[in-house]
This record gives sequence, C-alpha cells and structure tokens, in this order.
Amino acid sequence: MSALAPALLINPSTRILSDAERTERMTSPGFGRIFTDHMAVIPYRDGAWQQGEVKAYGPLSLDPSASVLHYGQAIFEGFKAFAQPDGGVKTFRPDANGRRFNRSAKRLAMPELPVDLFLEAADALITLDRAWVPASTDESLYMRPLMIATDPYLGVRPAREYLFVLFGSPAGAYFPQGVKPVTVWISEDYVRAAPGGTGEAKCAGNYAASLMAQAQAETKGCDQVVWLDAVQHQYVEEMGGMNIFFVYQEAGKTTLVTPELTGTLLPGITRSSVLDLARDLGFETQERKVTVQQWRDDLAAGRMTEAFACGTAAVITPIGKIKANGFEMPINQEVNGPVALALREALLAVQHGSAPDTHGWMHTVC
Ligand code: PLP
Ligand code: COI
Repeated sequence: MSALAPALLINPSTRILSDAERTERMTSPGFGRIFTDHMAVIPYRDGAWQQGEVKAYGPLSLDPSASVLHYGQAIFEGFKAFAQPDGGVKTFRPDANGRRFNRSAKRLAMPELPVDLFLEAADALITLDRAWVPASTDESLYMRPLMIATDPYLGVRPAREYLFVLFGSPAGAYFPQGVKPVTVWISEDYVRAAPGGTGEAKCAGNYAASLMAQAQAETKGCDQVVWLDAVQHQYVEEMGGMNIFFVYQEAGKTTLVTPELTGTLLPGITRSSVLDLARDLGFETQERKVTVQQWRDDLAAGRMTEAFACGTAAVITPIGKIKANGFEMPINQEVNGPVALALREALLAVQHGSAPDTHGWMHTVC
C-alpha cells in the first residue's frame, strides 16, 4: 500500500445479483459482455491520489468538458484472475500490468498509480466478487483497469484531475469460434504506430485509430489486422490486440521468432511469458525483425511451420491464413499447430494451477 494514498473503502453493493441470475449470465460468457457486481474507483486531484472505493458497478458521471472527451488522455490494461484447484483465486502477473500501466501513463502525461495500490484495488475487487470468477479451465475473470482525464477544462494541456477505474468481466474465448486458426489481413493502407508515437503505450487512441483497418480486414474475410512498420511498410509488428510469433522447424530444431520491441509495438506480457515458456519447453527463441516477404518465403520453403497470435484476451490463437492485396497463403493447412497448442496448454496450466509456477507469475488474491 502506498504511503501517499489512503486504503480503499469497501462499500458493498445493495443490488447483488442472485446466484441464479449470476449463473445464467456466466453461462457462455464470450468476451467483454458481462460485468461483475462491483468496481473500484480512485480519483486523483491536487497532485495526489485520493481516497478510493470499491462500490456497486455502474455508470460514471463526467462533465461534458472533461478533457478525456476532447483530447483523449485515456489508458487501460487487461489481466486475468483464475480459479485455483484449492478453491482460491490467483491473478497472472498483475504487477507487470501495473508497471506497464504506469509506462502508458507517463507517455500520456498522466500521473502514475503506485503498483501496490493497483494490486490492492484488484485484490479487493476480486475478493468481493469472488463468485464471478469462472471455475472452468476455458474461462477466467478478465480485469480491466483504466485511467481517464476528468478535468473540466478545454485548454490543451495535461489534465490535473483523473479517475482510475477497475472492473471485472467473466470471459471465455476472445474469438467467437473458440480455439481455431484465424485469418489475418496485412494492412498496407493504414499504420498503427510511428516512431516517437504512442505505439508502446496502451492508450485508447491507438485502438480508435485501428478500427478502420479492422473493418477493412473484415470486408476481406479476415478476423484481424497485422500491422507493418510505419516507415518502410515491410516489417511485421503486431496485430490488433495481440503480439505475433512465428515457428521455425529446421534441422530438428524448433525456433520461436517474434518481432523485436522497437518502441512502436506493445510489449505484451503474454509475449514475454511465451518466450520464457518456449525456452522451458526446449525451443530456441529470437526477437528480431521479420518482413512480410520473409514470412511468405519461409512459409513457401517450409522453414516456417506455424504462426500464432498471443495476448491476455486471445491467450494463444493460431494463424491459419495470411492475406494482403494480391496474395493469400495458408499456414499449417489452416489447422491448429502443435507448437502453438503446446505453448497454450503450458500457459493455461500455470494460470489454472495445474502446473508449477516456476517463474513466480501467479499472485494470490484469496
Ligand atoms: N498488442 C496489442 C495492441 C494489445 O492490445 C495487446 C493486448 O493487451 C497485446 C499486444 C498483448 O499484450 P498482453 O499479452 O500484455 O495482453
Ligand atoms: C487484452 O488482451 O487484454 C487486450 O487489451 C486486447 C484488447 C484489444 C481486447
């Protein structure tokens, strides 16, 4: 707990859903559609985080002149809580999300939230909403922290008042089709992030700017956009809400390659975990640049055998086909690849407590 911010007040909701209603809502939750009974809020003003509170989930009240509505100071995070075999609940690397939240805050000239307070808010909320943590191994409680600028002021400058909000959403598979290979569209018409921009921050504007490209991908029959670098338009960076991995099989050796962190892509926590798990499984790993041409050539030559996307919401999702203007190529006959599936299982086993947590990733909540 930070010495600078008072402990959170816990004000339980008087409108808790009945067990039957909650169970009904939690059946086949999909992603991001249902929310638990409570949320945490912590205001920031006069240069300090103020008394925060865990209270009934519900609408926020904002002044129409609140600067987030005009100039977009808004950041968010995503991490998950998992039911454990002993009946407890643990979150996956929430401290890493707390630190990335602060890097995003810094980039958007917003105040940093002490990581201890970030964790305290999450633990208090999850403990109160314990009944909303799904028991099934395909599901989890997805936690969404965010911060917005609430200053009622129209001048363009970093706001002086902010609101931190955290809420939870029981979640199943991110893609409606479940764990099946996705088709991706390599975007040549739009860019996500340029050097010096906000690409490595998890800020709302990055996602707003991606929506046209995502809509274009869908008109081409694709599930997701693959972004290329903004300068040469040839290096593969990441996907709409996921990092990307390529699997190489050469001379009996399996190598996992992922685009290096250049400052224009999000440093995914799943990405970093997959690199560790890949090494645990005896695979080689490389973080380096990969061009679209290399992707095509290595697939055609049979050196690259799989590609997959990874992220908190998407977990590990195989890529079955790449498409761009003038070409399309299947990957691994458009079926789930063995390396992607092995890594997915290894990750889920740690998260759900059926494999030892050798990296110290799991945080005990209750
Ligand atoms: N890239 C983008 C643009 C994202 O939105 C996400 C999702 O959070 C990721 C990558 C994956 O990051 P993480 O594994 O930390 O969820
Ligand atoms: C996450 O995986 O947590 C994300 O934030 C991705 C989002 C686009 C759903």
